[in-house]
Amino acid sequence: MPLDYTAFRQRRERLIHAMGSGVAILAAGSELARNRDTHFPFRSDSYFHYLTGFPEPEAVLVLVAGDEPRHLLFCRDKDPDKEIWDGFRYGPAAAAEVYGFDGAFPLAELDDRMPEFLAGQADLHYLVGRNGAWDARIMGWLNAVRAKVRSGVRAPARLVDLADSLDEMRLIKGPEELDLMRRAGEISAAAHVRALRNARPGRYEYEMEAELYYAFRLAGATAPAYPSIVAGGANACILHYVNNDQVLRDGDLLLIDAGAEYQGYAGDITRTFPVGGKFSGPQKAVYEVVLAAQAAALEQVRPGRTWNQPHDAAVRVLTRGMVDLGLLKGDVDGLIEQDSYKRFYMHRTGHWLGLDVHDAGDYKVDEQWRPLQPGMVLTVEPGMYIRPSEDVPGAYWNIGIRIEDDVNVTPDGCEVLTGAAPKSVAAIEEVMNHG
Ligand code: GLY
Ligand code: MN
Ligand code: MN
Repeated sequence: MPLDYTAFRQRRERLIHAMGSGVAILAAGSELARNRDTHFPFRSDSYFHYLTGFPEPEAVLVLVAGDEPRHLLFCRDKDPDKEIWDGFRYGPAAAAEVYGFDGAFPLAELDDRMPEFLAGQADLHYLVGRNGAWDARIMGWLNAVRAKVRSGVRAPARLVDLADSLDEMRLIKGPEELDLMRRAGEISAAAHVRALRNARPGRYEYEMEAELYYAFRLAGATAPAYPSIVAGGANACILHYVNNDQVLRDGDLLLIDAGAEYQGYAGDITRTFPVGGKFSGPQKAVYEVVLAAQAAALEQVRPGRTWNQPHDAAVRVLTRGMVDLGLLKGDVDGLIEQDSYKRFYMHRTGHWLGLDVHDAGDYKVDEQWRPLQPGMVLTVEPGMYIRPSEDVPGAYWNIGIRIEDDVNVTPDGCEVLTGAAPKSVAAIEEVMNHG
């Protein structure tokens, strides 16, 4: 699916409208050295990508608001010698044409031109305080304008954090973004099915990680959206386990939390299944509680509900389950009140999802949990993690289960973007045992 550059330009127009006046500056970011002269794969800053789609490092977006709005780009010049080694560069002229800018300049002119763009403006909008070197560079341009005030030039007096307006925009996904997120969800789900089919006792966690990666790349995804968690047995009780170096053992569960990044957008799925293809009684008992908690949370994802309602619903089902399983004693309301459930469920039930796996957007507005609205995309990911302890029935020791899906709020409920990854006990056992 080709990128739709009109959508990027429309986002810039909406941002310019929200700015009202002044100049906005946003950087793509730089390549990061891995060692000596090799680099980590470059990924544009998410805000920069959201507004441009332009893929090259070092590029800088400049937006001028006001009566004569302008969309400008600074980027690397064409360089036939470097392009032989490192590949194609657009150069300013082609970049402006292909990506819909009103003008583009070589990067080498950035330090000279920026003070000119800032002169006479009241407001300077940028991502304040995210990157020390970038802050210093922008202050250098600001001071270059201030140095000219005696000749009648006005320097921006107000610094505005662009995140305020951009986070609100990124929170509500447009139809073109939802298409990409559906694809990220599908690819991620297919990768989980692949892992499910290939898991068996004696194979290693990293082999399952390789199966996921193979499925991601084969489907055209760039990379995992975050380090894949492939956690067999007790490792599932380590929430951010990423060593992925242990052998899978019969009788253990395997928790996989992995998602693809597709054209910048993240998938984020967790499935937990038995290495040997059949849940034991105790594993199944805990699994059914987590699955019911997820169903209860999903039921709350709809306009009119607030951000916290899915979490509250999941906590209630999980806590009741903990009592039924003999993990906690007491009445459910009191155990929730006293946070007793946090011993076995210590994270929240989800987060916004988009270009970042933990995406932009506030969770509270005016101190109140935010109402859910169509176009918001979030994860729903309850879990239960039971570490060995004398006061816990031994049958449940080292069981760690999480079930995570990605959902888009729709006018009358939600759309699950990752439903192709099986999650009922019967469906998982069916895929594992009969392909
Ligand atoms: N894999 C990161 C998360 O689920 O939040
Ligand atoms: Mn998640
Ligand atoms: Mn996850």
